[in-house]
Amino acid sequence: MFNGIDGTLIGFFTALALFAAVAGSILWFTVRTGSSPTPSGPALRRAILAAVAEAEANAPPGPIIEIGGGWGGLARALHHRFPHRPVVVFEPSWAPYWVSRLLSPRSAANRPRFKNRAVRSEDLAAGAVAVAYLAPETMKRLAPLFHALPPGAAVVSAMFAIPGWTPGMTLTADDLYKSPVYLYRT
Ligand SMILES: C[S@@+](CC[C@H](N)C(=O)[O-])C[C@H]1O[C@@H](n2cnc3c(N)ncnc32)[C@H](O)[C@@H]1O
Repeated sequence: MFNGIDGTLIGFFTALALFAAVAGSILWFTVRTGSSPTPSGPALRRAILAAVAEAEANAPPGPIIEIGGGWGGLARALHHRFPHRPVVVFEPSWAPYWVSRLLSPRSAANRPRFKNRAVRSEDLAAGAVAVAYLAPETMKRLAPLFHALPPGAAVVSAMFAIPGWTPGMTLTADDLYKSPVYLYRT
């Protein structure tokens, strides 16, 4: 039988082990993918939504594809702002993936769909707008995938440009860094 102190210690070490497992997995996926699950701030998110509004107005039918959903905040904002478009989110890191799934609206029609893996080129083949807030190296690695998007589709990339591509439009977030948001048409 455990006394009160033993029980408290067991609870403490269980919580510590869980915390270490979650933190370790986030670190592992950050190193593996090159991007941490840092959420976009309010001003950057507003600029991303404005760029997606511009992009999707002339895009073919199809979903908005978020590459790297992080904790799901942008996915929920995309769903609210563009209810007529399905939102599909790719997030390989399991902790943010599960948090975003749990916080996402369940009953809403067209609710965001989450996939616990990295995006592949075939995922983009029917997409209308691909949205990314990743890292410079990740954008370089993913650049060839964007050729799979159909004609008239768009890529919206927050902060980091696609190397070798010329944006059709660049918006600036009203934040401290005047963060750029690039809009590319395929
Ligand atoms: C900066 S966070 C995204 C934040 C989120 N978009 C937002 O605005 O709140 C970048 C995420 O991209 C994910 N990621 C990195 N490479 C990826 C890939 N190839 N496919 C899908 N997700 C990826 C990382 O796991 C990380 O959680």
